[in-house]
Amino acid sequence: MTQDELKKAAALAALDYIEEGSIVGVGTGSTVNHFIDGLAGIKSRIRGAISSSEASARRLAAHGIPLLDLNDVTELPVYVDGADEIDSGFSMIKGGGGALTREKIVAAVANRFVCICDASKLVSPLGRFPLPVEVIPMARAQVARALAALGGEPRLREGFVTDNGNIILDVHGLSITDPLALENRIDQIVGVVTNGLFARRGADMLLLAGAGGVERRA
Ligand code: 5RP
Repeated sequence: MTQDELKKAAALAALDYIEEGSIVGVGTGSTVNHFIDGLAGIKSRIRGAISSSEASARRLAAHGIPLLDLNDVTELPVYVDGADEIDSGFSMIKGGGGALTREKIVAAVANRFVCICDASKLVSPLGRFPLPVEVIPMARAQVARALAALGGEPRLREGFVTDNGNIILDVHGLSITDPLALENRIDQIVGVVTNGLFARRGADMLLLAGAGGVERRA
């Protein structure tokens, strides 16, 4: 199977976790795009979706899936999203698609985070994938200096603006032995909006697609 076929297999397996009549939290990325396409097939059985990005919102809308405002929602049973890397403790690096801030917000509201990945995303330790950090534009240089002081090599994601009007610094070469500590440390840098470590709120379940099928880990 190709990597995209594996992504699709993981994504479709996540449909099993959608509750009848519920609102669904929807992530961002190529794996989630398969999930959205699958969700379209059961759209009459859900109330609607909360999107983590403008891109996912457009895809959901194209399928006729009602979009809801997170501020109007008190109960979100499930959030489904991919990851750039995930470890065995279900901490993740996310934000390869630049949607990390809204992803973190929607995930924070959800009761359960179902992560959908092809097998290449399961790693130990995290950190080969450059860590995305969303930054207020005027703070770019000072945040870059602070990230360099932590041992990373921040590089501006050229020509990219987030849905929130900010920039992304992709931090290469970090040694992430303690994802929770590093997530908290980077969040303390003034000018950082969000960093792509999801350790405080990691995944609750991993649907990992490999050659032998989709493994369900919890
Ligand atoms: C977007 C993300 C995605 O979940 C992550 O980049 C994985 O993407 P893909 O499913 O395309 O491999 O965090 O901000």
